[in-house]
Amino acid sequence: MNWHTRYTQQAKWSRDLRAYLFHKVGLHEARRVLEIGCGTGAILSELPDHIQLQGLDIDPAALAQCRIHVPTASLIQGNALQLPYLDNSVDIVYCHYLLLWVRDPIQVLLEMKRVTRPGGHILAFAEPDYAARIDKPDELIPLGKWQTESLKKQGADPGVGARLAALFFEAGINMIETGTIQPVDTGPSPEEWSREWEIIESDLQGALADKDIQKMKHLDQRAWARGERVFHVPTYFAWGCTCHE
Ligand SMILES: C[S@@+](CC[C@H](N)C(=O)[O-])C[C@H]1O[C@@H](n2cnc3c(N)ncnc32)[C@H](O)[C@@H]1O
Repeated sequence: MNWHTRYTQQAKWSRDLRAYLFHKVGLHEARRVLEIGCGTGAILSELPDHIQLQGLDIDPAALAQCRIHVPTASLIQGNALQLPYLDNSVDIVYCHYLLLWVRDPIQVLLEMKRVTRPGGHILAFAEPDYAARIDKPDELIPLGKWQTESLKKQGADPGVGARLAALFFEAGINMIETGTIQPVDTGPSPEEWSREWEIIESDLQGALADKDIQKMKHLDQRAWARGERVFHVPTYFAWGCTCHE
């Protein structure tokens, strides 16, 4: 799996939302911007380089990739649960598909809040709720259930998105705007479909017989071709600030 390609594909799903929110929080005037769980740099690499870009990730292999894609960023290996940054030291801190992977998302949000200067902004761009996933036609419903189970086995909390606003509240972050990302309804390109199935096949390997996986793959392909496929995972965002404190 080429993780940078995968993360770049995921980044497309939230592109319009990021453009809207980065505009709202005054990204271009910001001096220091930090991504927690920056991965291979799919998002950091899109940010203007007159800003001091900072990124943190727990995975050294992802950071090595990030160094290639965002050579100007200052990158640190560390844990989101205990950020190695000073209080009030950044203007904007954000994460993207991170909170589902952490043991204690409130602790991460508390840390994001701690490092943000008064009047700064905290953004969680994309956290899914796989419990509310919609699959059509109905014969593809088991695929969603199996994938959600697989995420749980990998240590993720697949339902974190639906709790995102409550998590911000519990972390004492003043909420400005929250909601779900509008899905792009055009369906995947053939390359995206193949990559998606690479993930599904690796997720389900061992848990299901190969013939059952191949049957789902065939049903999925046929449903897309006939325009019958509906695949929707409600994915939440939240924008908060350290204002009015
Ligand atoms: C799905 S990837 C998203 C990467 C990037 N945010 C993006 O959207 O392209 C999640 C990232 O979070 C990192 N991660 C998971 N748990 C973490 C933790 N406790 N502290 C820091 N990073 C963590 C993973 O190593 C991975 O790179």
